[in-house]
Amino acid sequence: MHTGIALIGCGIVGSGVVKILERRRAEFFSRAGVEFDLRHVVVRDPSKARGLPSTIFIHNDVNKAIDDPNVSIVIELIGGTTRAFEIAQRTLKSGKHLITANKSLLASRGPELFALARKHNASIAFEASCGGGIPIIDALLHGLSANRIEALVGIVNGTCNYILTRMTKEELSYSEALKGAQVAGFAEADPTLDVSGRDAAQKLALLGSLAFGAHVKEEDISVEGIDTLDASDISFARELKYVIKLLAIGERVDGNRISLRVHPTLVHQDDVLAEVSGSFNAISVYGDSLGHALFYGRGAGEMPTASAVVSDLLSTAIGVAPLAFAKLNAFTDSSPRASVLPVDHVVSRFYLRLSALDQPGVLARVTEVLGRHGISLAAILQHESDMGKHVPVVIMTHRTRQGSMNDALREIDSLNVVGAKTVCLRVIDAPKE
Ligand code: NDP
Ligand code: HSE
Repeated sequence: MHTGIALIGCGIVGSGVVKILERRRAEFFSRAGVEFDLRHVVVRDPSKARGLPSTIFIHNDVNKAIDDPNVSIVIELIGGTTRAFEIAQRTLKSGKHLITANKSLLASRGPELFALARKHNASIAFEASCGGGIPIIDALLHGLSANRIEALVGIVNGTCNYILTRMTKEELSYSEALKGAQVAGFAEADPTLDVSGRDAAQKLALLGSLAFGAHVKEEDISVEGIDTLDASDISFARELKYVIKLLAIGERVDGNRISLRVHPTLVHQDDVLAEVSGSFNAISVYGDSLGHALFYGRGAGEMPTASAVVSDLLSTAIGVAPLAFAKLNAFTDSSPRASVLPVDHVVSRFYLRLSALDQPGVLARVTEVLGRHGISLAAILQHESDMGKHVPVVIMTHRTRQGSMNDALREIDSLNVVGAKTVCLRVIDAPKE
């Protein structure tokens, strides 16, 4: 079977796709009878040296590539939401199948695109949009379909995990570590998307929609990034036997309501997620029949991401992905809106770092406020210091509602013995099993 492809975008991920297509050509033919014909590679600047085989037709005319009657599958790998949306729309309106790694596009305009695909008898496959090379979307759509998913807890942004790992293990500065992630090709073209937590939130919107059978929008998710994290919190956490990870968490609470959040989180050193380093991602999924399953692998970068794109390509070419797309009411065009738990109702343990005046009675005033709000302390850490009037005091709490914590912090930060806004991070409980 001869399958014409147009690859639109040949940067980090696109280059990997070309390499795998070259490398695995014979196996694709012998295993599946598929012969891929990469008819177009479309980029912004065709004159740029890319080291691609000279036989490949590289140009910058998107429409020419999509409209080629011999192309049946279009791979969008340019990123962003404007031009990428136009590409997706044109592809689907032509009845051609779309493969994309673009979580921003699907998190913001997924329902329109899925509906358009259905209308034109086409399909959309997007394994590479979440978890890089980890087949988590396939797992949620197929492998775990017998389960009601109770929770997803994941490290889903490779850039943030790489930054946090290097800050923790090598004591690199935030900006040096970010530079490393950019050079390695993990970061988005605009890395603010990564470090602000938005990329993880977009992935949680996609994964949460599939896992919980309800349309989760990015704006449903409470988001904090790692861009405001202080290195001192990483070392205090270490002292308490925790590491800080950016986690994306979705869980069913109160029946059918879903709690959705992305934030830096203290994870105990013994937790399996604490071991996930560098650009690796890991997603813990809790199903009612299976229990806990952990999906682990490289979450970003050229070849891991291309691995997911090409698996979608093969699955689309042999008809599996289009069939699943047509038969499963699992996509955001056909799901009801998620009923989301307000963030104030989320229950968690907390890490607080106060800037407290170094004088008698200060801690008593702080703990009085916490006690009045029903917040119980689990640990307190303060170092001897001659650094000046204010010293850092770290408090770990037992579980309490986010709303109670916010009320308590408003009071604590207005005390005349507290010198700066208190840092407040969540602490994740031990794994459920
Ligand atoms: P890059 O910036 O490395 O590559 C983008 C490519 O798109 C370049 O080849 C660029 O051309 C081309 N391009 C940009 N705008 C246009 C346009 N208007 N018309 C034609 N071509 C255009 O991005 P990545 O490969 O890193 O990412 C691509 C997608 O994959 C994004 O959606 C990203 O979120 C997603 N993704 C990336 C991962 C990663 O690890 N990098 C992992 C998972 C998903 P030129 O080369 O001439 O500049
Ligand atoms: N910028 C993303 C990350 C790419 O670092 O995880 C993979 O989606």
